[in-house]
Amino acid sequence: MAFPQEFLDRIRSMVPIADVVGRKVRLTKRGREHTGLCPFHNEKTPSFTVSEDKGFYHCFGCGAHGDVISFVVEQEGLSFPEAVEKLAAEAGLEVPKASPQERQREERRGSLYDVVEEACRWYEQQLAGKDGQAARDYLAGRGIDRETREAFRLGYAPGQRGALRQAMHARGYKDDQLIAAGLLKQPEDGGAPRDYLFDRVIFPITDRRGHVIAFGGRTMGEAKAKYLNSPESELFHKGRVLYNLARARRAARDTGELIVAEGYMDVIALAQAGFPAAVAPLGTAITEEQIAELWRLADEPTVCLDGDSAGRRAGYRLVERALPQLKPGFSLRFALLPQGEDPDSLVSVQGPQAFRKIVDGARPLAELLWMKQVEGRPLDTPERRAGLRQALMDDVKRIAQTDVQQAYKQEMLQRFDQAFGFQRGRGRRGAGGRGGRGGDRWAPRDQQRRLAPALGVRQPISQLQHRQEQALIATLVNHPATLLENAEELAEIALVYRDTDLLRRRLLDLAMERQEIDTVEIRGHLRQVPDGAHLETALSREVYRLWPFADPGASVQDARQGLRSLLDLYRDRSAKDETAEEGRRLAESMNQESLARLEAKRKAAYENDSRAVDLDLDRDSGSAAGPSGPGQSGSDPHRSS
Ligand code: UTP
Ligand code: MN
Repeated sequence: MAFPQEFLDRIRSMVPIADVVGRKVRLTKRGREHTGLCPFHNEKTPSFTVSEDKGFYHCFGCGAHGDVISFVVEQEGLSFPEAVEKLAAEAGLEVPKASPQERQREERRGSLYDVVEEACRWYEQQLAGKDGQAARDYLAGRGIDRETREAFRLGYAPGQRGALRQAMHARGYKDDQLIAAGLLKQPEDGGAPRDYLFDRVIFPITDRRGHVIAFGGRTMGEAKAKYLNSPESELFHKGRVLYNLARARRAARDTGELIVAEGYMDVIALAQAGFPAAVAPLGTAITEEQIAELWRLADEPTVCLDGDSAGRRAGYRLVERALPQLKPGFSLRFALLPQGEDPDSLVSVQGPQAFRKIVDGARPLAELLWMKQVEGRPLDTPERRAGLRQALMDDVKRIAQTDVQQAYKQEMLQRFDQAFGFQRGRGRRGAGGRGGRGGDRWAPRDQQRRLAPALGVRQPISQLQHRQEQALIATLVNHPATLLENAEELAEIALVYRDTDLLRRRLLDLAMERQEIDTVEIRGHLRQVPDGAHLETALSREVYRLWPFADPGASVQDARQGLRSLLDLYRDRSAKDETAEEGRRLAESMNQESLARLEAKRKAAYENDSRAVDLDLDRDSGSAAGPSGPGQSGSDPHRSS
């Protein structure tokens, strides 16, 4: 009986060949391959290899060669259908019954490929012909050259709805075939079927082998949907296909690299810029099946994310989807693009090197998992920190593969320990030469600081919280609109760190003096205060990296949203001092007198605090601080008591 090709492919992708072969042959893993003694002939030294990537076994001694299904056929003496059924049962897949209808369907599928291929050619001709001028101009305007256009078989669906139907009729195709192929749709009112795509640039979508199975179409004007994809059909299942899979497969094999972008144009622009191993889902989030497909092309595909909070959230969702599927040696990496950029805009504006840098700086999945739990979570009480730990462990438990789960558990616990300023030493080296007893040892904090890599998320949590406050300040400075909008709420909160809180107060002062203010002016003012240097640490790349909405390049909407989430963290914190109490009253009735009163108080508070800040700084920088600071003599409560 004929099994659908798709079903066989699913078996091949879901049943690891090394596991099946491993039941008969003792295998040793070597790089990406396994080797062992060939079960098909007698040998003393191993010349039999299994490649999980390719899904093949091959013997260099006797030439035996095949995939997981043929291995079972050969080694267990089963017929092909029996082998398929056996493997399907192992993978928990239901074997499709080859009913007469199904056999008919198989045949129809065969002919559907022809229909779609024919339509593809026709779209290509339209783009090349005289009606295609506007579409050619459009593509040229987007920097796509002719060679790329042809390589991707781009086309054009003309404006007259019905042109495709007519052309396909002339080639002998019938409406029901055209509908089954997703080229026409039957209107609900029962009239004649109509072209699905018209007046759009056409992007053919192929299956893994390069056969065209569907189309995407982009409007060049103001149509409601920017992109339309063919409807699902017997050939086309959105969640299983990736755009450019067939071409990227070849490229990925050569380089071992695979980039996952968001859209058609990204993939095409990347290919043109020298990154041919790029794919994209078709307007939906990446599915489990697509993840499995990606891993057949590369061990660690790099997923491009827009650096804004929505982009990061999309990344977190993908992390969640990938966790249950993680297996040794396979993962995803995440490249965070500058806010508002996609790979297309990035390579065309900043060039391939800029994109290369971002890909090379991609973060591992484990880091995103960590960021997902830490971002926006207050960690200022033991219960909250324990909550973080639990949330991390809950995520880790979702990893099905035990070795990977174990490794993640270690990694997350290590990050957790590091975050709170301790490092659990392993053996002698971890102890950093102090406290020579065995077992777990705790490295001193300053040593930990040195160990902590530059990236914020790996730093002690006290620093992380400090960074959070710096992000708040940076947002206010870089997006002054948010400062004016949130002045009342800002007056109510107290930041934990004195330098950032001082900046907050200065910003409020400015907000009260002005109706309008811009970033340059704000920076000028803040630099004049004694802690001006701290402004620069707040306005740093490191801060922007973790809170992209704080970046001057972020959109105001993102800045607003981001600031909101930060303010929410502080809102519930009960304000301690009188100034904050006054601030609350101010928020209720914002009038000139209370403004003036508040400002006077703030000035006084500021004068008192600026000394305190200096003292604080001395403590913070540890031994680097000079011994002559005014606070060293015992006036510093932290030291004297
Ligand atoms: P984007 O809106 O990010 O567009 O959609 P883009 O890829 O940057 O496209 P250009 O540069 O404006 O041409 C990303 C992907 O989401 C799907 C498409 O697959 C698109 O490539 N999409 C988008 C749709 O399916 N429908 C839409 O209306 C918009
Ligand atoms: Mn784009």
